[in-house]
Amino acid sequence: MAKVRTSWLCRECGNVQPKWMGKCPDCGAWDALERFTEHAVPAGAEGTALVTSAAGAPRGAVPLAEVKPLDVPRVPTGIDELDRVLGGGVVPGSVSLLGGDPGIGKSTLLLQAAARMADAGHTVLYASSEESAAQVRMRADRLEGGTPSRGTHLLVMAEPNLAAVVEEARRTAPALLVLDSIQLAFRPDVEGPPGSLAQLRRCCLDLVALAKLGGVAVAMVGHVTKEGDLAGPKLLEHLVDAVLAFEGDRHHAYRVVRAVKNRFGSTQEVGLFEMTGAGLSQVEEASLGPEAGDDRAARPGSVFAPVLAGSRVLLAEVQALTATGFLGNAKRRASGLDAGRLAMLIAVLEKHGGLRLADQDIYASAVGGMRVLDPAADLAVALAVAGAFHGRSAGGAAVAFGEIALSGEVRSARQLEQRVHAAVRRGARLLLVPAPQAEAARAACAALAGAPRAEVLGVRSVRDALDQLG
Ligand code: TYD
Ligand code: MG
Repeated sequence: MAKVRTSWLCRECGNVQPKWMGKCPDCGAWDALERFTEHAVPAGAEGTALVTSAAGAPRGAVPLAEVKPLDVPRVPTGIDELDRVLGGGVVPGSVSLLGGDPGIGKSTLLLQAAARMADAGHTVLYASSEESAAQVRMRADRLEGGTPSRGTHLLVMAEPNLAAVVEEARRTAPALLVLDSIQLAFRPDVEGPPGSLAQLRRCCLDLVALAKLGGVAVAMVGHVTKEGDLAGPKLLEHLVDAVLAFEGDRHHAYRVVRAVKNRFGSTQEVGLFEMTGAGLSQVEEASLGPEAGDDRAARPGSVFAPVLAGSRVLLAEVQALTATGFLGNAKRRASGLDAGRLAMLIAVLEKHGGLRLADQDIYASAVGGMRVLDPAADLAVALAVAGAFHGRSAGGAAVAFGEIALSGEVRSARQLEQRVHAAVRRGARLLLVPAPQAEAARAACAALAGAPRAEVLGVRSVRDALDQLG
C-alpha cells in the first residue's frame, strides 16, 4: 500500500504547501489553501509528467543555439475556424482546455471536431463524464453529416472514472482524446468529490502524463464560474498547453473561440461560429457587414468598422444610443467595447466635437456578441455616439476607422489595405479614414478589381468626421 501524504493546495496558484497557512506564501492569496491528500509518488516521478523529454535529448544544460528546433506536426481538425485558433491543428502530445459558459456549445464543437477527424481516418476517443453514450449519439445525429459514415473511427465512452478513460486511451491509442468535462471526472483513489481541487489536479496531471508520454492529443472541457473564470485552480491553466475560451452570449448570433494561452501558436487569432439546428457552423466573414439592401448603417447611431482580429480583418457593427439622464449621474455602458475607451471618446467628443453629453445616458455596443479591442474602432464609436445624439447618420454603407487621440486628432491605423479591402468587399460605399492614409486608401480601393466603387474621405480630426454626419 502506497503511503498517503497530506498537504495543502492553493486554490489560486495551485502550489502545494506542507502545512496550512492563512496566506499562500507563493501568490499571497488569503484563505486559499485546501487540504489535499494523495498517494506519495516516487521522488522525481511527478516532474517527468510535466516536461516533455524527447528521446535521446541530452540531459543537463546545453547552449541554446545547439538545441534542435522542434518540428511541430499538426493534425487539422477539419474545422478551419478552430484550426486557425489552435495555430493550424491539434499538436500530438498537447493538452488543450476549452472553457465557456454552459450551453455555449463546448460539447458540440469538440464532437464536431472529433467527427471531422474521424472522417479523415484518425481514431478519436470521446469520453463523456456528463452524458451517456446514447446522448452523445443523439447529438452526433443532429450534426451536419450525421453519424454512420464516421462510426468506426469515433469511439465513445460514457465514464466519469478518469483511470478507466486513461486506460482506454492507452489501449486504443487515439490521435485525439476528448474529455467532457474535467470537472465531473474523478479518480476513485483520490479523496474528495469530482471537481474538488485534489481531483482536478490529479486528473489533469494524469492527462498531461498521457499526452506527453503517449503522444495523444488531449482536449478537455472546463466549466467556468459566474465571473467567467475557469472553475477550479489556476493550476489547470498552468498545466495545459493551450487554453481556449468560448465566448459570446448564448442569445447572440456569433460565438467566438479565442486562445487565452497557446504554447504552439498565437493568441491573437479568433474563430467565429454560429449555432444552427445542425451544430456550429463556421461564420464566413462575408456574412458580417453592410450587405446590399441592408440599411442598418443608414440608421443614426450605427457605424461599421473594420477591426483586426488576429491575422484577419472583421467588419464590426458599432451601435450607440443616447437618452436623457441626470446631470452628474449619467450612465455610460459599453458591451463588447472597452468601457474606459468609451469614456475617453465621450470626453473627446465634448471637448473637441462640441457635443454636450454631460446629462446623457450613453450605451454603446458591438453587435452580435463580438468583442472589439482594436483602437482603430474609435472613429466608428465616436460617430455612432454623435450620430445617436444628433439623430443623424453618415449614410448607408458607411465604414469608418482610425484611432482617436486625446487631442481629437484621428491617427493612422495599421494594415490599411486589408481594412479597406474588407470594407469594400462587404459593400461599403463611403470610407472615412485617417487623413494621412486617404491617398493610400484610394489606391487600395482602385486595386480591388471588380468591386463596386467606394468614396474615400480623409478625416483629420473628430470635428472633421462629425461634419460628415448628414
Ligand atoms: P452544448 O454543446 O451542449 O453546450 P455546452 O457543452 O457548452 O454546455 O450545446 C449548447 C446548446 O446548443 C444546447 O442548448 C442545444 C444547442 N444546440 C443547437 O442549437 N443545435 C445543435 O445542433 C446542437 C447539437 C445543440
Ligand atoms: Mg457540454
